[in-house]
Amino acid sequence: MDNKIGVGTGIGKIILIGEHAVVYGQPALAIPFPATKIKTTIRRKKGSITLNCFFHQGLLSNSPKKLVGLVSVIEQIVHSFNERLEDFSIDIESSIPPERGIGSSAAVAIATIRALYDYYNRPLTDDELFKWANVSEQIVHGNPSGIDMSIIIGETPLYYIKGKAFVPFTFKLDAYLIVADTGELGQTQAAVSSVRKLIESNPEEGKSLIKQLGVLTNRVKVSIEKKDVVKLGQSMTKAHSLLKKLGVSNSSLDRLVSVALDNEALGAKLTGGGRGGCIIALASTIQQADFICDKLLSNGAKNTWILDMELIRNGQ
Ligand code: MEV
Repeated sequence: MDNKIGVGTGIGKIILIGEHAVVYGQPALAIPFPATKIKTTIRRKKGSITLNCFFHQGLLSNSPKKLVGLVSVIEQIVHSFNERLEDFSIDIESSIPPERGIGSSAAVAIATIRALYDYYNRPLTDDELFKWANVSEQIVHGNPSGIDMSIIIGETPLYYIKGKAFVPFTFKLDAYLIVADTGELGQTQAAVSSVRKLIESNPEEGKSLIKQLGVLTNRVKVSIEKKDVVKLGQSMTKAHSLLKKLGVSNSSLDRLVSVALDNEALGAKLTGGGRGGCIIALASTIQQADFICDKLLSNGAKNTWILDMELIRNGQ
């Protein structure tokens, strides 16, 4: 009994196109990002629950405000099992940089929910996992579309429309996707609420931008199906300019997008909530991708990753 343990994992996600518009019923395309991962380990340990993670090391009950979604879901799950809220420790190891638009909050929740179910030896369906992760995401983001949780749970590329059945979207493309981190914390909740305010104060402009992003997502889907990486890149860059008009970019994101485009990226845009966080850029060869990464790193990016788009599939 003393070495009782529960383990759960969750990977990162990348939104190719459609962020923000997806909150308003437009489609979005997103892919798993398994190069980044969260692992939660729960161990039996006498006394009050402790949490060891990037943002907090100490008693769970003393966690900072930004962890309130995670703490709430832990408490609700333990309560639903009719177990006592004590006698275990939670360790969260992460290679997903937090608050960068690549899904760390949903992945932390998902890894921890999986670990709790494993620890208490209960079966967990994907629907239950989604329901619990949504408890945390509602608190963290206010009005999540569900795209982050869906990608992280399913670990497969999706063409996603809020509230509709998931449409897996596996593909092979002769191209490379660069992810570059500005190193600045993104502000998904603030960005989502500023988009809502724009739509309320200027419905004509706001709704038109959202609709144009939806049109672009459908265009990207066709470009991917036709393996037209040039058009795919052009749509990504156009999406960035629409997101900028929506007010969710910032100078660091714009700068990295420009650096990528000045160095022959086929397209580039911010990814995720914006106002910090990461950009993505498309390159046609690995040499070009390496070159663009070097340029991004010497122009302020804190980290870069390269994804081979031939290999984007379930469990890459
Ligand atoms: C965040 O990763 C994506 C947003 O579209 C918000 C959401 O869909 O919940 C900005």
